Amino acid sequence: MAQSNIETRWHLLDDARAVAAQAALWIQRAASRAIAQRGWFSIVLAGGNTPRLAYRLLVDTDTDWSRWVIYFGDERCLPPDHRDRNSRMAAAAWLDAVPIPADNVHVIPAQLGAEVAAPAYAKVIRAALPFDLVLLGIGEDGHTASLFPGQHHPAGQLVHAVYQAPKPPPERVSLSAQALSETSELLVLATGADKAPAVRAWRSGVALPVAQVGAAGGVDVLLDKAADG
Ligand code: 6PG
Repeated sequence: MAQSNIETRWHLLDDARAVAAQAALWIQRAASRAIAQRGWFSIVLAGGNTPRLAYRLLVDTDTDWSRWVIYFGDERCLPPDHRDRNSRMAAAAWLDAVPIPADNVHVIPAQLGAEVAAPAYAKVIRAALPFDLVLLGIGEDGHTASLFPGQHHPAGQLVHAVYQAPKPPPERVSLSAQALSETSELLVLATGADKAPAVRAWRSGVALPVAQVGAAGGVDVLLDKAADG
């Protein structure tokens, strides 16, 4: 999707806690609508640290957890129980505390290595599209998921094998911009002063990786004052 076609709505909140609270509320409302309309809610989770507090707040959601289906936007090629795994962060903050059926949590098998895990997860994603909600973070360089500036991937892929990522670990698996864009809602979280340069660049039209992802309904960015520079 060309960047210029993506409607981006900026929602400024006081601080990281306010961003987390709004993100949790947004996700809860999206889930309630999707479950009422179609009987289930599919969400792609962001990695990194920013979403951790929002995940913790989701634990107390009044919902039918059996209707939730979880995917991951990216994963680091590390052992499943490694403390730097995105799946482990989400499990520790949220998923292990709620009764989502294990079969509904689709972890990226990144421990197999990117070459094997990417095509394997592409089969899972192909069967899952379109998503109800995709949650993303933004890196200081404007990356999102494991889509980094200056890295190019074959067109048409739903899931990329990523090597030499500038943010360790170097080997990762990432949904493509195309796959991340096939969603009813797309929510990007940006908190902290270290994200302000990337947010400024994004708002000024720089073709950052985060700017290449856009649902047909647009992108909603929840950012705090520190990230708004
Ligand atoms: C990852 C994430 C990555 C993350 C950003 C922001 O695996 O590292 O998917 O895209 O969302 O780097 O990370 P923080 O939230 O920790 O600042």
